Amino acid sequence: MAKHFLITAGPTHEPLDPVRYLTNRSSGKMGYALAGAAAHEGHRVTLISGPCDLEVPEGVDYLPVETAAEMYEAVSRYIGKAQIAIFAAAVADYRPVNVPEQKIKKTGNTLTLELVKNPDILGSAREVFGYKGTLIGFAAETENVEDNARGKLQRKGCDFVVANDVSRQDIGFNASENEVSLVYANHTEALPKDDKYQLSLEIIKKSLEV
Ligand code: CTP
Ligand code: CA
Repeated sequence: MAKHFLITAGPTHEPLDPVRYLTNRSSGKMGYALAGAAAHEGHRVTLISGPCDLEVPEGVDYLPVETAAEMYEAVSRYIGKAQIAIFAAAVADYRPVNVPEQKIKKTGNTLTLELVKNPDILGSAREVFGYKGTLIGFAAETENVEDNARGKLQRKGCDFVVANDVSRQDIGFNASENEVSLVYANHTEALPKDDKYQLSLEIIKKSLEV
């Protein structure tokens, strides 16, 4: 039966001033592949995406955002409609405390930025948004991949977490292939390295079995 998926994707941009921002290396490919795969399987898809240089997959409802705060707001509005939510976005953990209206001028030899934590969007799904459907997170790790992913699963109330080793150059962030494990509360399933689209079809299938 067709389901309604909500998928977050891409990086976020956190403005420093009118001409600069903080971001990360996420390309958005994994989230877009998930959205395309779910739509291809006949599901309804709401894709909430930070800035990406990718074509929006056909048949997907697309909601572009820029900052983590905007992504939080969009997810809070749309998650109630979804039965399956997949959080593939690489949300910036911090944003600048103050964003001056004018460009920051080059004055001293050093520049200190003060940052404040962004809201945890996935971490708000259950407790703040009251979401009761299937919840899937991602975990970007450079060490202790499985343990860290399971910690996130428990803290954020996920059904499973897609664990990514982002220290590897051949997979992950900008690559077209990925090698991930699906971390559940009581077991872990390693998926073979594959094209992000093929992996997405598998993740969509697993999400329907929760
Ligand atoms: N996430 C989110 N909102 C944030 C930070 C993360 O929704 N402000 C989501 C990501 O989309 C991902 C999951 O939380 O599905 C884990 O993100 P990750 O960066 O791996 O973990 P963090 O909880 O941010 O912890 P850390 O970066 O310290 O490992
Ligand atoms: Ca993070």
